[in-house]
Amino acid sequence: MDKSYYHAHESAYKEIKTKGFVGWGNAKTLNDLGDAVTKQYLQETVEKYFTNPQGKTALDVGCGTGTTAFMLAQMGMDVTGIDISETAIGMGQDLSRAQNLNINFIAGDVLELEKLNQKFDLIYDSHCLHCIVFDEDRQKVLTGAKKSLNEGGIFVLDTMVMPNEPHNLKAGFEPLRFDDDYILWHKTKPSAMKGVVEINGQHWCAQRRIYPAHVVIAEVAKAGFVTVSHRLDAQDNEPSMLRLILR
Ligand SMILES: C[S@@+](CC[C@H](N)C(=O)[O-])C[C@H]1O[C@@H](n2cnc3c(N)ncnc32)[C@H](O)[C@@H]1O
Repeated sequence: MDKSYYHAHESAYKEIKTKGFVGWGNAKTLNDLGDAVTKQYLQETVEKYFTNPQGKTALDVGCGTGTTAFMLAQMGMDVTGIDISETAIGMGQDLSRAQNLNINFIAGDVLELEKLNQKFDLIYDSHCLHCIVFDEDRQKVLTGAKKSLNEGGIFVLDTMVMPNEPHNLKAGFEPLRFDDDYILWHKTKPSAMKGVVEINGQHWCAQRRIYPAHVVIAEVAKAGFVTVSHRLDAQDNEPSMLRLILR
């Protein structure tokens, strides 16, 4: 497989591992993973949509070292986590062994969810879609999720969107480049990877797509989803979090 911009995550996880952390946010233990708002939202969502989550199947899309996968497994769900970073997947496997939790961690591409050849009662995109930059790639993730949902299942999409004050967002991302097409680029070395461009002798790698919420809502509808719940959490000088529950 030719490498794409999203393979750049691997080096971030190597650094996290080298520093002795177990995931994002300088997390030293499993309990440090994830933010309080997301944890509460996840708990409430599972309680609302699953009378008994025990044994229900769940897929954590872009699981990283397993922030969401562990929470779902602790609620009794039968969890698979998929991530492009082999380092993150290895770290998740080590953590699950240490916790005696049987999570199926898979190194793979969320643009190819059909290859899992499995259907799930819950699919949770825990901050992955905003890492998928190009429209055709984003549709592949969304249509793959739609096909991988069991009848009556839900897809929870938890993703960054443009806040009402985009100027603050631009300032916060210096010295990264945030363009008028809502793409955030980081400076990189010359590379043949898809999603790396050269502008005035400098090389930039696509990193995030931070669309306004209405664009994401149109994208999920295009992939065949119906929105059953919609919540927008603003964050100071940072992208807002759009939390959609889809069928
Ligand atoms: C912002 S991180 C979130 C990680 C984790 N869900 C969490 O909440 O800690 C986004 C994750 O998506 C993964 N990712 C990005 N593109 C991917 C792709 N095409 N296939 C699989 N995983 C991908 C990255 O490796 C990264 O772990």
